[in-house]
Amino acid sequence: MPIAETLDTTLDFPAARASGCPFDPAPDVEHARREEPVTRATLWDGFSCWLVTRHQDVRDVLGDPRFSADATHPGFPFLTPGLRELVDGNRSFLRMDDPDHARLRRMLTADFMVKKMESMRPEVQRIADELVDRMTDGRTSADLVSEFALPLPSLVICLLLGVPYGDHDFFQERSRVLLTLRSTRDEVRTSQQELLHYLTRLAESKHDAPDDGIISRLVARGDLVDTEIAATGRLLLIAGHETTANMTALSTLALLRNPDQLARLREDPSLTKVAVEELLRYLTIVHSGVPRVATEDVTVGGRTISAGEGVLCTINTANRDEHVFPDADTLDIGRDARRHVAFGFGVHQCLGQPLARVELQIAMETLLRRLPGLRLDIAFEDVSFRHDMGIYGVHALPVAW
Ligand code: HEM
Repeated sequence: MPIAETLDTTLDFPAARASGCPFDPAPDVEHARREEPVTRATLWDGFSCWLVTRHQDVRDVLGDPRFSADATHPGFPFLTPGLRELVDGNRSFLRMDDPDHARLRRMLTADFMVKKMESMRPEVQRIADELVDRMTDGRTSADLVSEFALPLPSLVICLLLGVPYGDHDFFQERSRVLLTLRSTRDEVRTSQQELLHYLTRLAESKHDAPDDGIISRLVARGDLVDTEIAATGRLLLIAGHETTANMTALSTLALLRNPDQLARLREDPSLTKVAVEELLRYLTIVHSGVPRVATEDVTVGGRTISAGEGVLCTINTANRDEHVFPDADTLDIGRDARRHVAFGFGVHQCLGQPLARVELQIAMETLLRRLPGLRLDIAFEDVSFRHDMGIYGVHALPVAW
């Protein structure tokens, strides 16, 4: 009997957050974590896969080489038609297995090492201060997303890659299409081709005019084809600004909604590092599941996942697992949240996490220090959350000070 038939229920995924707390995972998936932690889900195209929802099970899957991240595998789960197109077009190493994944990732490990990222603190601080200067110049209100949360990581990743920031309207718009769950295959195909074309041309230009950015260095190696450089550039460009940008805005909103925690952080800024880890855990912006496919039969949480079956690891529910994080639904900026899986786990664990940490720590510390009267400028109920995007957050955050 097929395994799907051994379970009575299947969950439509992604599941709606409905009217619950917008910082919490969808109630149906949370329910599954408690009652049926390895459960069946049905995706938009009727495709059936497993949802793995508990902390230990998620680590088991993401740490096990029998689960593949290779998106060309027939059983690989795609959350939208657009995501499938993204993979058909030109895969980055995020969706490859070793040894190809390791070969391409290794070329970048030195660029994102903790020591290297820590050395960027003065530069990131300078950018953060300039953005706040501009935002507050003669004004008492602004949209925090477009004036601070997005430009900060966008400027930094452009600097690191050697991409002209002047082109940000072009690549931010394409990123938005690629990350919108409702984008059609055609829209994704067009955006994807335009972005790859842009990055291929940029790589070509570095032959004649090299700089000390990552793209230029990849070109200078001479052992990568242009499409590999463009796919890697696209991954870094999108991952480099969309993620931190959304974490910054959502973290600010979460603190404004939890005034006791905000006051605690304002009183003791030395808590910033610990608070950022807790915000990463509590908010887990990669909310649509980390995809894998089983290459052998594997038992996870007491269920057999058969070779060829797709799996989505819901890292947002894993980070609310009370077996690991007592009182997990409470934001507690003083707790030790280091075991969170907001950056994933295993060989694909986020390459950019040292950069994300530096950016988030500086962003939060700077905002709270420079804007002591920071407050939401609209009703909380009117905030537009990114239910429609692969990376969670808010579309805009009108604030005043
Ligand atoms: C991978 C989350 C910031 C670059 C990942 C994965 C997660 C994640 C969950 C694993 C995906 C998987 O296993 O399939 C986040 C979060 C961020 C963040 C929550 C910020 C708050 C960044 C930044 C960069 C970056 C700033 C820098 C360029 C990457 C890359 C990978 C990755 C290159 C692929 C790693 C691999 O496949 O080996 N990220 N990320 N991320 N992230 Fe991030």
